[in-house]
Amino acid sequence: MSLPQNIVILTGAGVSAESGIDTFRGGGGLWEQHRVEDVATPEAFARDPDLVLRFYDMRRAAIQEKAPNAAHRALARLEREWPIKVPDGSVTLVTQNVDDLHLRAGSERLIAMHGQHLSAWCTACDTRHAWTGPLIDRPPCPACAAPALRPDIVWFGEVPYRMDEIHAAMAQADLFVSIGTSGAVYPAAGFVRLAREIGAETLELNLERSQGSAWFHETRLGPATQIVPDWVDELLKTR
Ligand code: APR
Repeated sequence: MSLPQNIVILTGAGVSAESGIDTFRGGGGLWEQHRVEDVATPEAFARDPDLVLRFYDMRRAAIQEKAPNAAHRALARLEREWPIKVPDGSVTLVTQNVDDLHLRAGSERLIAMHGQHLSAWCTACDTRHAWTGPLIDRPPCPACAAPALRPDIVWFGEVPYRMDEIHAAMAQADLFVSIGTSGAVYPAAGFVRLAREIGAETLELNLERSQGSAWFHETRLGPATQIVPDWVDELLKTR
């Protein structure tokens, strides 16, 4: 592979698995004992808001007990060091994860396309607020005081955030890397085809082959805490 300039990296739940955060499709289709459609859709929220708020309160509390791992740290290092190695180059990290482990590891050029646990969205005044505590008691919105805060998470059937920025980064990419995602959920699962269309190199780093594996030029299998730092080391050493 010749030295790329602009790199777009997509991460999924597999990058946080070794930090102790469950992946979505590991446990027989159940997600922490819930069916995804019972907790991660706008319909579920309308039907049983307490169930959904309690579920996300639990997840929000849980991620604050976890720490970034070697894979998160390696990606932050790549973002820091890439402009030294390739002065006009860029690294854009797009994550489907709603934990804050990439941020805590130091990634700055980060697009959280499925939202984030540590944010609450007021459906009354359409403002977003940094949030670490529970939402089950319907706390007032800091901006308008309405008891209308919901998790700032993109549920199934909702449009992912910042898609225009993602497409702009993809249009410039000469290397697309997918890490720790099963390739089951669109639009992220389609990014590899987009990358192929514009002629970018494509690399998959995952524990097992993803659903879209055949689209990648290269697949490397293993735990993210090993294969991601190895790949970053290799890339930063490339002449
Ligand atoms: N290292 C690398 N990959 C791993 C590891 C690990 N330690 N552990 C698991 N994986 C891989 C699994 O093999 C699987 O392919 O990570 C992938 C996780 O897949 P999913 O659980 O489907 O998670 P993800 O692809 O991020 O889900 C996408 O679906 O439920 C929605 O919005 C939610 O963002 C999520 C989206």
